Amino acid sequence: MTPSASDLLDWYARQRRVLPWRALPGQVADPYAVWLSEIMLQQTTVVTVMPYFERFLKRYPTVDALASAPLQDVLASWAGLGYYSRARNLHACAVLVSDRGGFPDTVAGLQALPGIGAYTARAIASIAFGVPVVPVDGNVERVTARLHAFETPLPAGRRALDQLASMLNDDPAAQAAPSDFTQALFDLGAGICTPRRPSCLMCPWRVSCRAHAGGEPARFPVKAPR
Ligand code: ADE
Repeated sequence: MTPSASDLLDWYARQRRVLPWRALPGQVADPYAVWLSEIMLQQTTVVTVMPYFERFLKRYPTVDALASAPLQDVLASWAGLGYYSRARNLHACAVLVSDRGGFPDTVAGLQALPGIGAYTARAIASIAFGVPVVPVDGNVERVTARLHAFETPLPAGRRALDQLASMLNDDPAAQAAPSDFTQALFDLGAGICTPRRPSCLMCPWRVSCRAHAGGEPARFPVKAPR
């Protein structure tokens, strides 16, 4: 059975995490805040990012403020998050976006900017601009691998798995709410469909999950022996 986007969205409406970059229900997301959070979250956990994000946003409340700040100040504000190439790209990206008068609102336009790859472009496009695309990170891969009891080991199976993940978006209910759908997938992967001991009894998708039916959800995604 295909998983129902409505079931996931209903669950998200009740269980959504409060995160500092997340718009409140009914409000529109600030593309600058969404972009900043996605760059910070590329190699750093949600819990670590939260205080950095709030401090950073206070210091540089808009993309124009960030663009006009000296690079050295931005690098100092980034201290502790590591991977300083992210901060250099962040500043370069802010200058470009400020010059063009705002963020592009398409996946291709976003992906052309420094520091924004395929995954991050999809995350920003769906969360901030309502473009119906699914950003496929490790969380979304895990959810998808379990839904399908996907036996091909990673990394060899990654292309096929990413294809299956993109198909989650074929449901009209997902297309109608891209921002919530993406964030619901993140919350599902982070809180329910966890790597080791998934909480299947609380999962809105358990009735359509083949890994749950098979009784060994944590076996997925299958990894090639290394
Ligand atoms: N991981 C990557 N992007 C995220 C987001 N916007 N919210 C929570 N976790 C994330």
